[in-house]
Amino acid sequence: MKKRFTAFMLISCIWTAAVCAEEWKENNDESKVIPYTLPDPLVCQDGTQVATPELWTEKRRSEILEMFRMQMYGMMPDRGQSELRWETLRVNPVALDGKAVFKEIRIWFDAPNPRPKIDILVCIPRAAAGPVPAFLGLNFYGNHTVSGDRWISLTDCPDGTRVQGKDLEAQRGRSKSRWPIEMIIDRGYALVTAYYEEIVPDYHGGHTLGVYPLFASFEESVPEPSRAGEITAWAWGLSRILDCLENVPEIDAGRVAVMGHSRLGKTALWAGANDQRFALVISNDSGCGGAALSRRNFGETPEFMDQVIPSWFCRYYSRYAKDPAQIPFDQHELIALIAPRPVYVASADEDLWADPKGEYLSAWNADPVYRLLGTDGIGGAPDTPPETDVPVGATIRYHRRSGKHDVTDFDWNEYLGFADRYMK
Ligand code: GCU
Repeated sequence: MKKRFTAFMLISCIWTAAVCAEEWKENNDESKVIPYTLPDPLVCQDGTQVATPELWTEKRRSEILEMFRMQMYGMMPDRGQSELRWETLRVNPVALDGKAVFKEIRIWFDAPNPRPKIDILVCIPRAAAGPVPAFLGLNFYGNHTVSGDRWISLTDCPDGTRVQGKDLEAQRGRSKSRWPIEMIIDRGYALVTAYYEEIVPDYHGGHTLGVYPLFASFEESVPEPSRAGEITAWAWGLSRILDCLENVPEIDAGRVAVMGHSRLGKTALWAGANDQRFALVISNDSGCGGAALSRRNFGETPEFMDQVIPSWFCRYYSRYAKDPAQIPFDQHELIALIAPRPVYVASADEDLWADPKGEYLSAWNADPVYRLLGTDGIGGAPDTPPETDVPVGATIRYHRRSGKHDVTDFDWNEYLGFADRYMK
C-alpha cells in the first residue's frame, strides 16, 4: 500500500513538473495552430465513398471503431468474459424529503480475490408512474461526495491510492454542486452514479487492480500495444452498470443517457461509441483525448498526455504523441460513432486546456454522418463556435458556458432540456 502511495506521489510530482516544463506547455495561442486536414468519416479505407446509411453501418463504422480500439483507447472485452451479479444492499424510500427513492446496489464479478465490485447509487423520482429515463455518470471521489445526505454509504478505492490518509466522512457532499440530484428528480429522471476508481484506480498503469483481472483471458488474443487503457476499463464499467439497470424495474434501460466530466467525459464518449444501448451521450469539458480535435494541438496536447497520463490510453497511441497529424482518425469520428443517437458536447470559455473551439469543430465535423443517418445533426449551425452561453445545434448539440472547467446548473439545465427532447 505504502509503495503505491509513493508511486502516486511520484506521478503527482512528474505532473507538476510537466506542467511547468516548457516543452509540454499547452498551446494557448491560436496563431500557432498548424493548418490541418481532417480525415473524412465518409470515405472508407479502400477509398469508397459512403453514400448510404447501410454502407456506414455495415462497413465504415466498424473500420473507425477498430482504429480507436487498436490505436487509441485499447480493445474492450464484452460482458461474456465475466460473470456479473448484483444485489440491492439498502433502500431509502423517503429520500429528499419524500421526493425520491435512493437505492444502493452492489455489482460484483466472479473472479479470484480481491473480487472486483462496483457500488452504485440509484436515485429515482418517487412520484413516477412507470420506468423512468436516467442519467448515468461516474463520479470522481466516491458516491458519498455527490450529496450531503448522510444516508449514502462511503465508497473507497480498491487500493486506497486516492483516499489514503483522508477522512472519507469529511469528503461527504464535496462534489454536490456537480450533481443537482433534486433538479434531476424534479424533472422526472433518475440519476445513477458510481465511483470511477472502484472500476480501476487512476494512474496505476498496470493491469492488476479493479476489473482488469477480468480482462486477462480476452487480452491474451490482443496485441500488447492495443490492450485496454483505463478509459476503456471505465467505459466497460459503465456498460456493466447498464447491464444491471436492465434489471432495475423503476428504470427504463432503453432511455439511459451516459454523462461525464473531463476524463470521465472522454469515458462517456467512448462508452457511447462502444455500447449502442446508451440512448444519449453527454461530454462535459472532455478536452484532449475526448471531444477536442487532436490535430489542433491546442490547450492540452496528445504529447502532454503521453508524458503524464499515458495509462488512460493503450500503448499504441504513444507513437502519435509528437505528431498528431499522423493519427489516421480524429475525435470528430469518435462523435460520429455515436450517430444517429443524440450527443451533447459542452465546453467552458475559461477552460482553454480542453480547447473549446476544438470541441466545437469536432462536433461540427461529425455532422455529415448524422445527416447521412437521417438526423438534423448540428442543425445548420456555422463552423465557428457560438457565443458564450448560447447553445446551438440539434441532434448534435453544443454550448460554451461562461466560467471554468466544472459542471454547473447551467450545464445540467441544458442536458435536461436535451433529454426532454429525445428521451421523453
Ligand atoms: C487533467 C487532464 C485532462 C483531464 C482532466 C480531468 O487536466 O490533463 O485531460 O480531462 O485532468 O479529468 O480532470
